Amino acid sequence: MRIIRTIDYRDMSRKAANIISAQVILKPDSVLGLATGTTPLGTYGQLAAWCAKGDCDFSKVHTYNLDEYRGLTHEDPQSYHYFMRKNFFDKINIDIANTHVPDGSNPNADEACAEYDRMVEEAGYPDLQLLGIGRNGHIGFNEPDDVFSKGTHCVTLTPSTIEANSRLFEREEDVPRQAYTMGVQTIMRARSILVIANGEAKAQAVYDMCFGPVTPKVPASILQLHTNCVVVADEEALSLCP
Ligand code: F6R
Repeated sequence: MRIIRTIDYRDMSRKAANIISAQVILKPDSVLGLATGTTPLGTYGQLAAWCAKGDCDFSKVHTYNLDEYRGLTHEDPQSYHYFMRKNFFDKINIDIANTHVPDGSNPNADEACAEYDRMVEEAGYPDLQLLGIGRNGHIGFNEPDDVFSKGTHCVTLTPSTIEANSRLFEREEDVPRQAYTMGVQTIMRARSILVIANGEAKAQAVYDMCFGPVTPKVPASILQLHTNCVVVADEEALSLCP
């Protein structure tokens, strides 16, 4: 695990965007695993700006997002489908047919998850997986548990994740209680992993991910076993790390 310390959020976003851009330059038809949340917004914004200048070309890229709320249509402004279009896909020259997010509108969880696993496998798994990290160490929606999860599955969100995500909804009651998420085993199959984190609220999770025991109680800790994982985080998120 390599740790890159940045001065602030902007620096984190630019360095992460540089790594993703380099991946796409080296392999124009890269498969990218993508995340939603607040952390990657700056990274997506930077990539979109470079794309507008002609410095970054996503025309051959395929993407697979980590997760989606169960029960939301693709057009729902709270869905991750919508989030990705608004914050990234509509701002770059990607073919929207090459973008994939688990189908939260399919109430049949087994079917939706198996179909997503089949698609990710057929694509050959991501060349680069972008991850944020939850304050409880979750990656995707893989919450602290007794075992590491495997493929895409339906999860019931923990109260702390519902509370953390409620900032993006009008009321906490509006946050969906379940989500479909790629499993930890699938995430670990990516050929490279880029974790981004900023802010003091992530400091404990970042320390546990990088220096704590590898345990499903901190799902991100398994990334210590990945052979090509880079953490790009700001001073505050790394404040507990040596
Ligand atoms: C979302 C996802 C989540 C977030 C995490 C951090 O697709 O995978 O694991 O990365 O909850 O969220 P933010 O960036 O909002 O702090």
